[in-house]
Parts: sequence; structure tokens; C-alpha cells
Amino acid sequence: MPGPDRRPTALVTGPTSGIGESFARRLAADGHDLVLVSRDADRLAALAASLEARHGVTCEVLPADLSDRADVHRVAERLGDAGRPVDVLVNNAGFGVRGRFVGGDVDAELRQLDVLATAVLVLCHAAVPGMVERRRGVVVNVSSVAGFGPMGTYSAAKAWCTSFTEHLAASVRGTGVTVTALCPGFVRTEFHERAGMDVGSRSSGWWLDPDDLVEDCLADVRRGRVLSVPSRRYKALAGLLSALPPGGYRARVLTASRRRTGTSREETR
Ligand SMILES: NC(=O)c1ccc[n+]([C@@H]2O[C@H](COP(=O)([O-])OP(=O)(O)OC[C@H]3O[C@@H](n4cnc5c(N)ncnc54)[C@H](OP(=O)(O)O)[C@@H]3O)[C@@H](O)[C@H]2O)c1
Repeated sequence: MPGPDRRPTALVTGPTSGIGESFARRLAADGHDLVLVSRDADRLAALAASLEARHGVTCEVLPADLSDRADVHRVAERLGDAGRPVDVLVNNAGFGVRGRFVGGDVDAELRQLDVLATAVLVLCHAAVPGMVERRRGVVVNVSSVAGFGPMGTYSAAKAWCTSFTEHLAASVRGTGVTVTALCPGFVRTEFHERAGMDVGSRSSGWWLDPDDLVEDCLADVRRGRVLSVPSRRYKALAGLLSALPPGGYRARVLTASRRRTGTSREETR
């Protein structure tokens, strides 16, 4: 922990709704000052005001579109500022492109890849050296259980995120810095609505609550776990997918599990 003269600081991307908002609220409740990063400046300001009033922490608002390279570098500069160290980085921002890859919108695909992969790479690259120097730091990269199987470009980007996180965790082992990939299944957030998906009542046991997800993830971080997969059923699914040979088997298992949630294949790529 930082000295008595300062509170720890956490930078969370995508805190204006869903999983990122749960991270921001939990970390503020635990006494972290926050740097809040996403596109919607009004929602960021409202969240900052609410967290400051409720928890007495300081919130910095940094509006940025993480599909824009110049914006990503502004956020990286903030992370690399040795005078204002960031102790916890949560790379959470994300969205899914709906529809087929073949014949689809390649610019939308590139934006998705930039937010889910390139921004994660650049922000880790900016944050981790200072953490290693201070011999203290936490990185959480929000990936997905979809990354364990071939289900389209979203799942391919999440596979990259999980693999990258495992490598980074191994490369900083023993330095006092931990790096964890959070691999959720379905979570009740704005994600599916934003992607124009109709996912029905979201009441089956496959759907997770974002506050519970974040609570369990932070417990895994404290245990030093590199992969945080929530709930017994998603742990079993991830274990099965990892054990299967590459190819059609993994896609078929993922498709079958997703049918149980009441969502179609296209909706959950
Ligand atoms: N919900 C699920 O079922 C599920 C499952 C597995 C993994 N995940 C992953 O969890 C993460 C959070 O998603 P969520 O479910 O909480 O979705 P959400 O409620 O839609 O929240 C997405 C967040 O990302 C931000 N964001 C989106 N595009 C951005 C961009 N170009 N630049 C900066 N910020 C951007 C949004 O903020 P602004 O609109 O203010 O920019 C918002 O705060 C994502 O990485 C997602 O892939 C979700």
C-alpha cells in the first residue's frame, strides 16, 4: 500500500456502466482515488460526483475513445506520470460487433480490436514499469470466457487478452505486481443492449450480477490468481473448452452453452 500521505489510486476504463461501474464503486468504497476513462463525459462526471460524495475519495475524469490511438496515448501518459502513481489498472472498456465477419464492416471490426486488444496492450505497457519500480501494483484485464473457444472476432480478441495477460503475469512474477484476466460469462450490463441484441429476461443461472463478479474477482486478485473465472458452471465450461482439441469441438460446446441462456449464436459471438 502507498504511504500514509496518499490513498491508492485506481484507473478504470469503461466505468460508466456494467462491470466497470461495479469496479469503480467497489474500489472507491475500499478507499481508492479514481481515474475514470471512457467516452461519455456527462456520465463520467455524474459517477465521479457520486463516488466523491459517498466515499470521500478524489475522482479524476479522463474522457477518451479507446478506439482512437491519440486518446489511448493520452491515457497512457497519465498512467506513466511518476508524480501521480496509479496502483491499480482495470482494463475493462469493451463492446461487441454484431453480424458476420465475411462481408461485414471492417472499420467496426478494427474499432472492436483496438478497444479490446490494442488499448489493453498500450495501457499495460505504460502502467507496469512504474508498478514494478514501486514493487507494488495490480492489473485486471477484463477478458471473457468466450476467449476459450472460436466464436468470431470478439472471442478472438478476448483470447488475445487472456493469453497476453498470462504472459504479462509470468513476466512480472516476484516483483510485487499481480496481473489477472477476468473471464466472465454472461453478465447483466448494457453490453448486449448496446450491441443491439435481444437477450430476453436474463434470468437463467448463467447470468451473473456485476457486483458479485467484481467481488469474486478482487478476492482472486488478493489470492494472486492469474485467471479469474466466475461461478462453478463457467469454471467447468472453461475447463472443458481448454481440454478439448482445437477446431469445431470448442465452438460446438460454446454454442450449446449459449443456447441454454436463451441467446442465439450470432447474438453471443
Ligand atoms: N456483459 C457480458 O456478458 C460480458 C461478458 C464477458 C466479458 N465482458 C466484457 O466486460 C467488459 C465490460 O463490458 P460490460 O458488460 O460492462 O458492458 P457495458 O455495460 O456496455 O459497459 C461498457 C463500458 O465500456 C465503455 N466503452 C465502450 N466503448 C468504448 C470506447 N471506444 N472507448 C472508451 N470506452 C468505451 C463504455 O463507456 P462509454 O460509453 O462512456 O464510452 C462502458 O463504460 C467488456 O470488455 C466486455 O467485453 C462482458
